[in-house]
Amino acid sequence: MTKLVYVCDGGDCAEKGSVELFETLRAKLAEIDPKEQRLRLRKYPCFGGCEHGINITVWPDRVFYSKITANDLDDVVDNIERDAPRIERLCGHVKPDVEEILWQMLDSPY
Ligand code: FES
Repeated sequence: MTKLVYVCDGGDCAEKGSVELFETLRAKLAEIDPKEQRLRLRKYPCFGGCEHGINITVWPDRVFYSKITANDLDDVVDNIERDAPRIERLCGHVKPDVEEILWQMLDSPY
């Protein structure tokens, strides 16, 4: 199944560098999956966890990473590619109900 990797594009995350981080992540993912057959990268308007940005999520894995910096990207990419257990240091920063709202929206076909 194709995984969707979302990078927050909202104002708070953008102030912390999410636009540049998106481009760096795009280049890294293109190295391992150039035709986007397994991994697709998308921007997301705001996950609602603004104070914990930069936020990245992985669907359908329900992985919600926060406080991401460029230094974390190699770990994130390696983790996604290997289908490894989530990186605990980057998880659990936003409230569970914020995550749940996101998963409900992404799980919905509409
Ligand atoms: S601006 Fe990134 S979660 Fe809201």
